[in-house]
Amino acid sequence: MRIGLTYDLKADVKPDCTCSDDALEEYDSLETIEALESVCKSNGHDVVRLGGGRAFLEKVLRERVDLVFNIAEGRGTYRSREAQVPSVLEMLNIPYCGSDPQCLAVSLDKPLTKSILASCGIATPEWKVVSTVVELEAINWHDFPYPAFVKPAYEGSSKGIRFASVIENADQMLCVVGNVLADYKQPVIVEEFITGEEVTVGVLGNENPSIIGIMRVLPRKKKDHFIYSLEVKRDWENMVEYECPAKLGDATNKRISEAALKVFNILGCRDFSRVDFRVKQDGTPYFLEINPLPGLNPKSGDIVIMSGKMGWTYKSLVSAILAAAMKRYGFAS
Ligand SMILES: Nc1ncnc2c1ncn2[C@@H]1O[C@H](COP(=O)(O)OP(=O)(O)O)[C@@H](O)[C@H]1O
Ligand SMILES: [Mg+2]
Repeated sequence: MRIGLTYDLKADVKPDCTCSDDALEEYDSLETIEALESVCKSNGHDVVRLGGGRAFLEKVLRERVDLVFNIAEGRGTYRSREAQVPSVLEMLNIPYCGSDPQCLAVSLDKPLTKSILASCGIATPEWKVVSTVVELEAINWHDFPYPAFVKPAYEGSSKGIRFASVIENADQMLCVVGNVLADYKQPVIVEEFITGEEVTVGVLGNENPSIIGIMRVLPRKKKDHFIYSLEVKRDWENMVEYECPAKLGDATNKRISEAALKVFNILGCRDFSRVDFRVKQDGTPYFLEINPLPGLNPKSGDIVIMSGKMGWTYKSLVSAILAAAMKRYGFAS
């Protein structure tokens, strides 16, 4: 088959100078594209790099491809940016790996995703959305339960999530929410802080999706309120240890797996996804967010590290994602 690769490279996207210093955090490096290309080729396919943005639009009309392996994050700060490339592919009737525009657009909007999942009985931290400074100042933050957690409503890759996102009082709340509103130009979600274990879960497949692994993220240095923040993700080799399978006991792991599969199915995810939870002491997993387009960097992608610890090579992981998509479209693999 002739496989097109769609992606957004950090080097191809110019942040506007009013943006935060993590504006390019979600975009990919050449290393990831080369790794994906090499797996596709080792499965006997030809590969065409279609890229992202305008260059992608021009190339996709020129090149004939049978299927696209899509990891494009999309352009701009729109909450539906991850849906941009799959929308074009659907318009042109080109098959592609991964979730559809609706799933991608909903999942990047954290409050909307939480509302849908909470209405289906999935536990998620209590939350409030603040869209403007006027709204922020109208709320009596003294009555809010602390610690609380503040994050931009439509981001990923820990953009806008720092150690300072854990809020202890009303003064800090006004200051941090004000800064996030100004820096990320989107609503802010204020959540109940979940003290507990940090886990991320890989899901693979379609009709009967399976769990790749439950990976626990542990700080190397004990910390009062550990969070998997931008500072930590940028220096993950020194800051955290990954434990997979998570040693949380069979009963808790079962609850986490069931919650992850339920989330995957409710949102209509396809082929693969990674779901993040915090697990309270009583073993209840609290849904934080889902990544239907999880990072596939061969060294630092959480789903790659997780699958590696479960005995998968990078090639077997990427090949399984590709095979899941091909099966959906009825292509022989
Ligand atoms: N309500 C919360 N309570 C405790 N920690 C949280 C909460 N929300 C987010 N975090 C911490 O921040 C990290 C990043 O948040 P997440 O919602 O997964 O955003 P991102 O899309 O940037 O990965 C989480 O992995 C977790 O460590
Ligand atoms: Mg996350």
